[in-house]
Amino acid sequence: MGKSLLILGAQWGDEGKGKITNYFSTKADVVVRYQGGNNAGHTIVFDGKKYALRLLPSGIFDENICCVMGNGMVINPRALIEELEEIKKAGFSTHHLFISDRSHVLFDHHIELDRLNEEHLKDKKIGTTKKGIGPCYTDKTSRIGMRMCDFISDEFPNLYKELLERKNQEITFLGGTPIDYESTVKEYMILAQKISPMVCDTIALLKEARKQNKNILFEGAQGALLDIDFGSYPYVTSSSLTSGGALSGSGIGLHGIDEVLGIVKAYQTRVGEGAFPSELHNEIGDYIREKGHEYGTVTHRPRRIGYLDLVALKYSIQVNGITAICLTLLDVLQGLDELKICTSYTYKNKILNTLPASNQVFKECIPNYVTLEGFKEDISQVKSFDELPLQAQKYIEFIEKEVETPIVLFSVGPDKYQTIVRKEIF
Ligand code: GDP
Ligand code: IMO
Ligand code: MG
Repeated sequence: MGKSLLILGAQWGDEGKGKITNYFSTKADVVVRYQGGNNAGHTIVFDGKKYALRLLPSGIFDENICCVMGNGMVINPRALIEELEEIKKAGFSTHHLFISDRSHVLFDHHIELDRLNEEHLKDKKIGTTKKGIGPCYTDKTSRIGMRMCDFISDEFPNLYKELLERKNQEITFLGGTPIDYESTVKEYMILAQKISPMVCDTIALLKEARKQNKNILFEGAQGALLDIDFGSYPYVTSSSLTSGGALSGSGIGLHGIDEVLGIVKAYQTRVGEGAFPSELHNEIGDYIREKGHEYGTVTHRPRRIGYLDLVALKYSIQVNGITAICLTLLDVLQGLDELKICTSYTYKNKILNTLPASNQVFKECIPNYVTLEGFKEDISQVKSFDELPLQAQKYIEFIEKEVETPIVLFSVGPDKYQTIVRKEIF
């Protein structure tokens, strides 16, 4: 029987999903992205080189792996072709990429609307990546979006004209610059021609892969706390990032996933706006930001930094059905005298052990911490759990006991080899 593993972010994104997906991809036959678009930025380091993927699944570097962009994704055709060109230039083949005919196409008008929506929200802005993600998913749920099957069809120019007329009205209403049909339709038709050979029924492809007992990896983008249903709404992205989203965004079916691996950074980060109870506005936060190079892969914005939040993590484990954890960036905590972990919140003198729905309440939550001893030693070259300083071992053990989920592997540096497995899961 083939195995399937879902890898997803358990925090606010940038947990190291790309690195860990690529690590496991050596054992995979298929790697599937199932939601989001080029708002994602997944960094992969191997053989001394660094790659940043936005749309492509993290198995793209091995031509024997079938890479799937699932129906739940929103795909900017220009960004896709640019990314494919970059990968080809770096010496990798891309003929093993398959794009769902049901995925949605992200156009320039979505990007313009993203910019305008943010502008109109003023101090309530979400802090999006401005890649047009929200407006594209809005069109999908409004049932006026364009799917890949239509984008590559002969009908495209007419469908696009109709769509753009409607969208340009919105753009004009919001005070933006309408998108010119004549110039953009030509470019999109060229892009559609390039993309067309990669488009297929990926649901049938996955069915066949299951039938042939292939090993399948699902690669989430963003993180559970940015999920449209479960995240810190409205400061979220617009897709389903959780394990439910992996099913609906790929068509694998309820029993198609064996294990759910939650990727958890050893501390907490967030890009964009929204509540963040354990956020650090001091030199410890700055220390972590610099040591962990915590600047956005897509937007290069400095990431907000905080202590690990177990209230949020427990919630993530629950809504995703996480069965195992990978703890990443543990090396970044080296050199801190003490390591704090948030275990509950206080809101108006009451203790909260779960995430509040209301953004207003979440904003006013005060974190309660447990303090553990820090570690001084460089751990970037350790090869086993036993080689870790005792304090780092205790940090790991404390987390897994609190969240009642095993930490089956941990990561001590960006490179693929800096990954230590405690228990095989795939
Ligand atoms: P993703 O979006 O979840 O794939 O994560 P990003 O790639 O956006 O951000 C994670 C960052 O941490 C990248 O720069 C990685 O190269 C880096 N990284 C991943 N794991 C580790 C680790 O264990 N230690 C250190 N120091 N860096 C890591
Ligand atoms: P990866 O896959 C971190 C955040 C944005 C913003 C919110 C909405 O690399 O972990 P959007 O452009 O999606 O409408 O923005 O979501 N965001 C991410 N934060 N990592 C990501 O992806 C993110 N993708 C979106 O900063 O707060
Ligand atoms: Mg990222």
